[in-house]
Amino acid sequence: MNLITATGLTKIYKRGSEEVRALDGVSFSIEKGDIAAVTGPSGSGKTTLVNIIGCLDNPSSGVLKIDGNEIFKDGASFSESELTKVRRKFFGYIFQKFFLLPTLTVKENILVPSVFQKELTVTQEKINEVLEILGIARRKNHLPYELSGGEMQRVAIARALINSPEILIADEPTGNLDSKRSQEIQEILTQLNKERKITIILVTHNPEFAKIGNKKIEMKDGKITVEN
Ligand SMILES: Nc1ncnc2c1ncn2[C@@H]1O[C@H](COP(=O)(O)OP(=O)(O)OP(=O)(O)O)[C@@H](O)[C@H]1O
Ligand SMILES: [Mg+2]
Repeated sequence: MNLITATGLTKIYKRGSEEVRALDGVSFSIEKGDIAAVTGPSGSGKTTLVNIIGCLDNPSSGVLKIDGNEIFKDGASFSESELTKVRRKFFGYIFQKFFLLPTLTVKENILVPSVFQKELTVTQEKINEVLEILGIARRKNHLPYELSGGEMQRVAIARALINSPEILIADEPTGNLDSKRSQEIQEILTQLNKERKITIILVTHNPEFAKIGNKKIEMKDGKITVEN
């Protein structure tokens, strides 16, 4: 069964009297276990699309179904509290800017999502597990400024995994990294997909990185030009 189905998703931003069609009737589906690589020029709507898939933003029209639930339908949506539940149950998010809190240690940063989620109790085992997966156990008590860029992104990935999400949304996760660090992140994401069956939606400018996707979504001017 499709994990994610989008039908005719449209997002219109209004700037005064001018309208920007950031998404213009986009339809596709993603199956459980896919790595979907989203590519396309700057401004083509990639971030808009993955933010809507991740329920961080709402479409102006169209339907988004996640695991059979109609989250957005023709301008209507789940309530904010229902959206919060969907985000917590299904999604982990990784961004180009790592968004680590500078005064918190690695371990504390990883625990940030649990501070906002009453129902998410994180065991010491879970913390150790994500630290081990990302190879940052030695860095547990370090502050972000003591880390390399690659390590910061691995902390951000560990944080995204703390609620055991089914789907990882990664928007240009290696955009701030050199090619060696970028390669490490590619391997980590591939491994998470293979070993833990996490579905990954990856936005990248890097054609080599996009190759880890078994599915390709190419965008231009708010439309999908290639889906395979
Ligand atoms: N909050 C907003 N208000 C108005 N216009 C917006 C807003 N967010 C995005 N846009 C516009 O929507 C279009 C798509 O933007 P989006 O950020 O999705 O592109 P992108 O493909 O992620 O680009 P990049 O590769 O540069 O990150 C662009 O024309 C952008 O200017
Ligand atoms: Mg973007």
